[in-house]
Parts: sequence; structure tokens; C-alpha cells
Amino acid sequence: MQGRPLILVSNRGPVGFLGDGAGGTRAVRSGGGLVTALTGLIDLVPALWISAAIEEGDFRVAAEADGPFPIPSAGRSTSGRFVVVDPEVYERYYNVVANPMLWFIQHYLWDLSNVPEIRDQELEAWSDGYMVANELFADAVVEALGANPDAVVMIHDYHLYTAPASIRERVPDAFLHFFVHIPWPQPDYWRVLPPHIRDAIIASLLSCDIVAFHTQRYARNFLLSCEDLLGLEVDYGALTVRYRDRTVAVRHYPISIDADGFTEMASSEPVALEEATFLRRRRRHLVARVDRTDLSKNILRGFTAFDVFLDRHPEFREDITFFAMLQPSRQDVPEYVEYVERITGLVSHINTKHGNTDWMPIDLRFESNLPLAVTAYKHFDVMMVNSIFDGMNLVAKESMLVNERDGVLILSENVGAVEEIGAYSLVVNPFDIEAQAEALHQALTMPRAERRARGDATRRVINENDIARWLQTQIADIEQIRGRGVLSAGDDA
Ligand code: G6P
Repeated sequence: MQGRPLILVSNRGPVGFLGDGAGGTRAVRSGGGLVTALTGLIDLVPALWISAAIEEGDFRVAAEADGPFPIPSAGRSTSGRFVVVDPEVYERYYNVVANPMLWFIQHYLWDLSNVPEIRDQELEAWSDGYMVANELFADAVVEALGANPDAVVMIHDYHLYTAPASIRERVPDAFLHFFVHIPWPQPDYWRVLPPHIRDAIIASLLSCDIVAFHTQRYARNFLLSCEDLLGLEVDYGALTVRYRDRTVAVRHYPISIDADGFTEMASSEPVALEEATFLRRRRRHLVARVDRTDLSKNILRGFTAFDVFLDRHPEFREDITFFAMLQPSRQDVPEYVEYVERITGLVSHINTKHGNTDWMPIDLRFESNLPLAVTAYKHFDVMMVNSIFDGMNLVAKESMLVNERDGVLILSENVGAVEEIGAYSLVVNPFDIEAQAEALHQALTMPRAERRARGDATRRVINENDIARWLQTQIADIEQIRGRGVLSAGDDA
């Protein structure tokens, strides 16, 4: 690890090791926007990536390596390091506090007249689960900093809010950068949590040198939270907060993808293989969506809008398919299990109502298959990204980048990506089903030239603001704030 300039820390790492049935392990790329983006990043900068052991094989890899291990498919100079958390602690940390409690708060998903109820179970999950797991992550970071005191530590996402305070206490001079990949709601919504919990979250984040978000809106909400909830002095012009004797920078950097790498992958052999079958089956028009089965993705309203669209525009019957690839997610959390059941029920209702023996309006796949997802990206006419709230949403960027049919993006006004590409998309309110049905019709009947112009403009933005730019802007800020050079893309171990 000697000489590595960057220590990445996130709950989910770039790959999970599954058992291969023969006593060995098989590495599988992890899902979700965070891993997608940071995987592009470790191709540019050598790093040590600290993450939790989650899959069965991860524990074996952790025990065998007893420290850093090579990440399959990543460059030689990047390694992984697993944090092993006791299963009961992990259950409380991940399945009670992080998901759903924090995730639901940050996506405004709680039905507040009914839930949540904060009882002993939740309070103990915080103190004996979340805080304990965060302490284990902090231990791993402190150890890594011991070997490389000059490294920049980039901690990612809502699972790890209390780790920075512990790292700062033990390594006062560490450079800590925290990136929140999900929305930061307005201050009052944080009042769902008891004061000792919400204050600890904000205070720990303020142990960092930089606290970063995807959009201006989330950064502003964070500053407001510091002022309203902790009574701190905030400078909205300079985007800083005074906390104890330090000034903390609050910034926004819209995350993106490795545009060249993704474009190359779109013409790879595995995608070509999927395309052959996919194109044989396609109808004239294709609507698509690719998501984890997350309540924030608004999958039910999207299908209901399609139902309304078919009612209003029978001329499209048998000529259109809604292809939905949904990757099962967080199936240990009851709300997520119920969501999958509701999706299945609604799709079967719509398919029975409109379909016939020759035509199934919604082609629903519960799977994670990147080549097939990319195939859908290349061939859709309309991509639906209608999330209730969503940090950035990289599906919007990936899919528009490689689309070959002048496809149109329907984009919720509450998705981070709207700040960059909303101007070229059909922006909808995610609760307004009529507007989404109308947007489907508008996209499908839009003149080709307009579709092309919108798509080209979107691609220009994505190519310009790709993952390298995301990183460079942050490096520049880190250098400025730290007062000397810290990272350079060519550095090696
Ligand atoms: C979002 C979060 C990530 C998370 C991913 C997948 O993108 O921002 O932190 O890793 O979802 O969720 P999971 O619970 O499977 O890690």
C-alpha cells in the first residue's frame, strides 16, 4: 500500500466474491451507481478500496489475504481491503439503520403518519450496530493511514456517516473528504431522527475537510441543516461551515461515468450476443428502464403511466414493448420484498388487461445482466427515469450516451442528473402519472430531428463532464484546500 495516494472507503466494494461451488470464489461486479462511478475512477488513479465483506466468498478472501488483496479486473496498482463485521452488527447497521432508516429519510420515502417508529430496537441498532460498524471502518482507515500518512481519504455514502469523527480524533491531520451519493433533504425532514442521532451525523461529517454532493440543491440543504439543526455559522457565498476550530468546505460535483470505456463496452462481444436475440424480438417502439428494485425509483407509477398511455393511445397496441430490467435489491428489508411483490402484481395486471397471446406489453426481467442492459440502452426509443428522488442516476447518462435510435429521456425533476441534462430531456413530476403518460406519447411522436438534437446535446454534456472531470475538479479543490499537491493520475504504488 506504500505510496498510494488515495484511500476509498464505501460499504459496497467494486466486486463481490461468490462461492463457485468447488470451494473457490468467483468475482462478480457489484451493482449500484456508486460502484459504477468509482470503478471508472480506479482506472484513473491507483487506490486502496476499503469495503465491507458482504458475499460469502468475501469472508474467505478477507481471511486468506489478511490485508489488501488484488481486485480482479482493476489495474495492478489498485487493491481492495475488506472490513469484516459481525453478522448481527451488520444486520443492524445495514438492514435497520442504513436501509431503510437513512435511505428513506434522504429520499423522502417515509409515510410519516404511520412510520417510522423509533423504539429500543432502532436505538440499539444505531448504538450497537451502525456506530460499531463505522468504528471498524475507521480502524481500517487509521491502519491504512499509518502506512501512508499523506493519502487522501475519500469516504462514500450514508452507511459511513460516523466514521469520520472517529478517524479525525485519532489522526487529527488526516485529509478527509466525504461524498454523499444520495439526496440531502431539507433540515426539517431530519427531525424524523432523535436529536442525538441527527446531530452525530452532521457533526461527524463536519470532521471532514470537504463534504461533497452531486448537486447544488443537496449542498445547499446540507448548509441549511448545519445552520438550523446545529446552530452553526454558515457562509452561503463561500460554501463553508465553521465547526469547532475548523472551516469545512461544502461542494457539489456531478458524478458521471467513464464515457470512453462505456462507449467501447457497448460494441463488445457480450453485448453483440445479447443484441441478436433482443433485436429479433423487438416491436416497432421500445420503452425501457433499468433499475434496482428500490422504492425511490418509482417503478409502480412508471408502469401505471404506461397503462394510462395504452388506454389513451390504442393505435400503439401490439407495436410497443416496455422492457424493464430490475435488479433485486436489499431483499432482507421487508419494505423492499413487498415492493417486488407489488411490481409483479401490477405488471401482470397490465399485461392481462392490454396484452394478448401474441403480445406482452411489459417485458419484465428481475435480473442483473449488464450486456443485456446495454443492449436495451442502445435500442430504446424512450428511456424512463422517473425516480421519486435520486442522488444522480447514472442510468440516465449511460443509456443516452450509447443510444443509437435517437431515443428520448423522460427524467424526473427530482433526479440529480436534471441539473446537467434536464434541458434536453422531457422533465416530469414523478407523482404526476398523467404527465408521465403524456411524456411517453410526446417522446414517441417527436420529430426525428428534434430527438436527434436533444440526444446530441445530452451526449456532449456527458462526454465533457465524465468521470475524469469529476475527479479532476475534486483534486483541484483538494489541492487548493490542502495547500499542496496530493494526487496525480499517473502516480503509482
Ligand atoms: C446506491 C447507493 C450506494 C449503494 C447502491 C446499491 O447507489 O448510493 O451506496 O451501494 O445504491 O445498494 P446496495 O444496498 O446494494 O449496496
